Amino acid sequence: MPKIKTKDLSKKLKTILPIHLLDLLRDIGELADKKKVAVYIVGGFVRDMLIGISNFDIDLVIEGDAIAFSKDLKEKLNAKLKISPRFKTAKLLLNNGLSIDLAMARTEFYAYPAALPIVESSSLVKDLSRRDFTINTLALSLNKKTFGILIDSFEASRDLKQKRIKILHDLSFMDDPTRILRAVRFEQRFNFRIDKYTQNLILAAIDKKILKKAEKFRMTNELILLLNEPNPLKVIRRMNTFDELDFIHPNIKFNKSLSKKIKAVAEIIKCYKKYCQDLSVKIWMVYLMAIIDDLNIHDLKEIFAVFNFNKKDKDILLEIKQTGGNVLEALHFIPVRKISELAELLKGRAVEECLFLINKSKKTGIKKMFIEYLVKYVNVKLDN
Ligand code: CTP
Repeated sequence: MPKIKTKDLSKKLKTILPIHLLDLLRDIGELADKKKVAVYIVGGFVRDMLIGISNFDIDLVIEGDAIAFSKDLKEKLNAKLKISPRFKTAKLLLNNGLSIDLAMARTEFYAYPAALPIVESSSLVKDLSRRDFTINTLALSLNKKTFGILIDSFEASRDLKQKRIKILHDLSFMDDPTRILRAVRFEQRFNFRIDKYTQNLILAAIDKKILKKAEKFRMTNELILLLNEPNPLKVIRRMNTFDELDFIHPNIKFNKSLSKKIKAVAEIIKCYKKYCQDLSVKIWMVYLMAIIDDLNIHDLKEIFAVFNFNKKDKDILLEIKQTGGNVLEALHFIPVRKISELAELLKGRAVEECLFLINKSKKTGIKKMFIEYLVKYVNVKLDN
């Protein structure tokens, strides 16, 4: 068993958490006392709190029956409940938009490398020991007597201070290859450094082509998360140092031109967000379009064999490959003031496609036209 360190953060919690969140955590602790289970808030929430970043994703670990507790909590908070019996987890959706994930303290036994975990009951520390990186193993007790006590079982506080991404055990990447993408994502997001030993394990796992054996849905999820990061270029550049972006497709070459394309996407997304409060836009997809811009349809179909994008997303990605060139050509010939012609050309196309095409077009003034199009046809307001 590792040496467990504890620290009383109850006072700190009062100063850093919004009152409604603090009350919610207290309510959860009170119910846990009543139901005689131990409850902890774990992972990203605690990590980000110590770094000083807001994170409203609440992950709870219950020492006891998480499903039964989630049903009680549903009643108490008047929330919506979704149970996943396969993983013995539950999700609560609160009226104020917050969501709470609940899991039973568990150990995950992997049937074979890269397989999905089989869940069995166990204690908090054992549960935490199965997680990806030390910085994600912090837990905060919510039961009344111990409310706000930080439990650090794997030197997570030290690694947070030293800005280090470190795995917990040597087989971590073999168990779950998508953790390679996660290591790079966290490293670049927080400006941390993957520690040397962990880097060597990543290289050894990549050498064994472990990313090819990863669960499709996990890979898809991680690719999307990676491209939804505030600065995907940094993450892509770093992934390239490990596997030359083979995890997406071997024909992708990370060079100045690709770097320029990714930067340009960042610009157009920034511009779009300024004018549109459209939360449904799939930013990751616009980045992916740029990354696979030089690939052909055959390559794209190979990508579909590795990632299980939904049908709609696949259709959009295919459409851009099949007809994007024609639209780009037509864009070039639209008279500068004819916003209606631009609207006609973009009609029926997904916003992600439009963003990619406008971004790619070399026509002078096309971005200004696009903004006018958004204001006139997409019903957005100019905010300056
Ligand atoms: N986890 C893991 N291995 C994975 C995915 C997740 O061990 N392949 C663990 C991590 O320890 C993480 C927890 O499950 O803390 C919850 O996962 P997720 O919500 O993806 O992690 P966050 O740290 O909250 O990530 P983010 O800040 O990007 O939301």
